[in-house]
Amino acid sequence: MKTNYQIREDFPFFKNFKGAYLDNAATTQKPKVVLSNVNNFYKKYNSNVHRGSYKISEQAEKLYSDARQTVADFLGAHSSDEIVFTKNTTESLNLIAHSYGLNNINKGDKIVLSIMEHHSNLVPWQMVAKTKNANLSYMYLDNNYSIPDSELKKIDNKTKVVAITCASNVLGTLVDIEKIIKKAHNMGAVVVLDATQFVAHYKLDVTALNADFAVISGHKLYAPLGIGVLYGKKQLLDQMNPFIMGGGMIEYVTEENTTFAPLPNKFEGGTPNVAGAIGLAAAIKYINNIGYDNIYKIENELATYAIDRLKKLPYIKLYLQKNNYSDVISFNIKGIHPHDVASLLSSKNICMRSGNHCAQPLMNYLNVDSTCRISIAMYNTKEEIDMFIDALESIYNKFKKYIKE
Ligand code: ALA
Repeated sequence: MKTNYQIREDFPFFKNFKGAYLDNAATTQKPKVVLSNVNNFYKKYNSNVHRGSYKISEQAEKLYSDARQTVADFLGAHSSDEIVFTKNTTESLNLIAHSYGLNNINKGDKIVLSIMEHHSNLVPWQMVAKTKNANLSYMYLDNNYSIPDSELKKIDNKTKVVAITCASNVLGTLVDIEKIIKKAHNMGAVVVLDATQFVAHYKLDVTALNADFAVISGHKLYAPLGIGVLYGKKQLLDQMNPFIMGGGMIEYVTEENTTFAPLPNKFEGGTPNVAGAIGLAAAIKYINNIGYDNIYKIENELATYAIDRLKKLPYIKLYLQKNNYSDVISFNIKGIHPHDVASLLSSKNICMRSGNHCAQPLMNYLNVDSTCRISIAMYNTKEEIDMFIDALESIYNKFKKYIKE
């Protein structure tokens, strides 16, 4: 099993970077194998897919469809036709909201979300609710930042869609998606899983879970920017209209009408991000080689160490489930604004996100404007955690005389 130090060696970014990179929930660094696969595509096979009838275009097409199969296997889909490549999670969720939501949700119906949703899994559903005179209902949290069972009663027989994160990008809370899917299906609703923050750390099996839709972003999974995935059950995708219209997604076009290509091309209008898909497949193979057990072991050790150290600092408020390791750790330093903390850390080349983390309704619910957030990946080290917490201590010691009690 590779250690985090050995894994770090696989990431060229760290050869030049002297600091602590603790913003992995925002985006991850890329291993050599991802960079070389993308590079190799551009060097040897760069051509458009679906159109060319010459050799390199056929090779590009093969690499693209192999990448789709790799993603299908990774997510446990029945068929690669159920895998649609998009730009990112946001585009995937907009596609579902437009193509499924607007056609299946009607006046008086309900869309159930959790209060932890990222704006990308919230704003599109607000649009659907407003357009169709439907109702949004939020499942709130208990004081351990979990969704209590009592909130699941909001999923009732008026509910048509439950759109839920698998892991919060702010609190790190893991949601009991199995229970939610069962309840939603009992009520006749479909479930949209936002697995963006989940899949770099845990195995997602859409078939075992019986998920209807699931979305991920490649760049949070050690793959390039600009490639995302929508998984949808074939029978749902088949009945949905395309979202992006244009080249590549048609079967036949007349002056008046168009018939659409079969899955998955129907949802991939325009030239796709072939290099991104190839990079994503390389990232998935890389993760499979490291293994989720090993990833969990490394990240759990680092997160536990960070949380234990943070808990010793009385001026830190943690927004974190008790007795639960999390690769995402949100906190505030009493009396110092998160943006000030982030910019002071930045002066020491420590990368941490501050702000509302695209989750303003959650911030309102927690009664804060913003938080500081570190997020850990398998290539992080204890030295980075020490560097970060030592810096927090020195920031507090320098500023404490200005902090009003
Ligand atoms: N959604 C990303 C994050 O939480 C950008 O940081």
